[in-house]
Amino acid sequence: MIRFDIVTLFPELFGPHMASGVTRRAFDSRQVQVRLWPLRDFADGPYRRVDDRPFGGGPGMVMLAQPLQRALEAVHAERGDLPAVVHFTPTGRTLTQAQVQEMAAGSGAVLLCGRYEGVDQRFLDRHVTQEVSLGDYVLSGGELPALVLLDAVARLQPGVLPAPSHEQDSFSDGLLEAPAYTRPEQWVTPAGALPVPPVLLSGHHAQIAAWRRGQSLVLTAKRRPDLIAAARAAGRLDEADERVLRQFAPDDTL
Ligand code: ADE
Repeated sequence: MIRFDIVTLFPELFGPHMASGVTRRAFDSRQVQVRLWPLRDFADGPYRRVDDRPFGGGPGMVMLAQPLQRALEAVHAERGDLPAVVHFTPTGRTLTQAQVQEMAAGSGAVLLCGRYEGVDQRFLDRHVTQEVSLGDYVLSGGELPALVLLDAVARLQPGVLPAPSHEQDSFSDGLLEAPAYTRPEQWVTPAGALPVPPVLLSGHHAQIAAWRRGQSLVLTAKRRPDLIAAARAAGRLDEADERVLRQFAPDDTL
């Protein structure tokens, strides 16, 4: 059982996602438990303030440390343990499938969804154990990143996907996944009939596996040469893989 405690100003964003699609099974079965903590419940005064203007000036608002601290205390009192505290921010380290797998094997975390221009750094320094970014772009808050992490963790739970599905996921072995095809064998379009790559219809499992590996390698080399370099450095490419890559780039630019 994994438990995520989510501190957010927008708890209503989470319900619909958890009630839909294959990942719903992980939430319904309580393999992944989610407890929402509306941040406003921990704020003071008639206006239940959760943010204020930044010292030193500048645009936007900064989230106050005190309500966040109270929310965290409530989480600790209910959970009884001190899990990782994740803060979603574009200044964090980019989320990877390896991190998702680690999360999926653990007991959960507090997910802190920031809003506005940021969170008082003193709170982050005291309580946050990991700062996570989804990528090099800026969202209006941490709720979507939290949902992304929940989804990625939920689909790895036993029984959510058909048996070995996620072993073939992009990134699980450090490469992008090969393309997939389904019926019809010939898709007739105004531009002509488009066949499925014949090897996939051959019933020859070793050849199909080799073709998929080749597709994976070439796609990764084209789109994410950094992943090829990492796979090579980790000794995850064999002689056959190197042959495929040399064919793709005979001048050895890989
Ligand atoms: N909050 C705002 N932008 C973000 C991003 N790119 N990743 C994670 N959290 C964010």
